Amino acid sequence: MSDIAVSVQHITKRFGSDTVLKDVSMELEQGKIHGIIGRNGSGKTVLMKCICGFLRPTEGTAQVFGKTIGKDCDFAPNTGMLIETPGFLPHETGMNNLLWLAKLGNRASKERVKSLIEMVGLDPTLRKPVSQYSLGMRQRLGIAQALLDDPALLILDEPMNGLDKNGVRSIRELLLSLKKQGKTIILASHFAQDIDELCDSVCEMDQGCLITG
Ligand SMILES: Nc1ncnc2c1ncn2[C@@H]1O[C@H](COP(=O)(O)OP(=O)(O)OP(=O)(O)O)[C@@H](O)[C@H]1O
Ligand SMILES: [Mg+2]
Repeated sequence: MSDIAVSVQHITKRFGSDTVLKDVSMELEQGKIHGIIGRNGSGKTVLMKCICGFLRPTEGTAQVFGKTIGKDCDFAPNTGMLIETPGFLPHETGMNNLLWLAKLGNRASKERVKSLIEMVGLDPTLRKPVSQYSLGMRQRLGIAQALLDDPALLILDEPMNGLDKNGVRSIRELLLSLKKQGKTIILASHFAQDIDELCDSVCEMDQGCLITG
């Protein structure tokens, strides 16, 4: 089996006359943490969405575990993702939101949902609806949601956003332990420390172009 988890081949993405990704190619090895950095608006989120299958590239292809997105499958296989603000049912508790998603995916047990919620530092017995969660709490729940189906690839778009110091530390530890389990992680972050401490490789985007990687 190939040790490449994600292969991006000559992706260009245009919105109308606006070219936001320009001939981006990259190969990301399995079992590593890959950082994506770059200024606001440089194309990180659009690239991640093309890899997940939420957006179709105008030109070029993204392959995940050998499957071409949009051809072999609609969405990246065996992949968990947290991209921008995760959508939750606002009037339900965090635990109920994840239980719903687990039911839809038909995989994670109640016990697993509970342990995931604990793993990201939330209280599974908390009665508060998600609408009353802080940004950091919502982000933690989003990370738990990304892990629901125990995916081999995790695509995390600024997962540390809104987290306090303890939250950042625990999510860093969590990502390193997931890497130890052999998972591949793609992480967009504006925090230099995330990149320095966590990432095995770094891709830098600038105005839609990959300038290092
Ligand atoms: N649905 C869309 N329609 C039109 N333009 C879009 C759309 N989504 C993104 N863009 C544009 O694509 C460019 C790249 O956006 P993207 O969200 O990928 O940036 P980013 O690197 O993730 O920035 P940030 O660090 O702020 O998250 C921006 O110019 C943005 O306005
Ligand atoms: Mg972004």
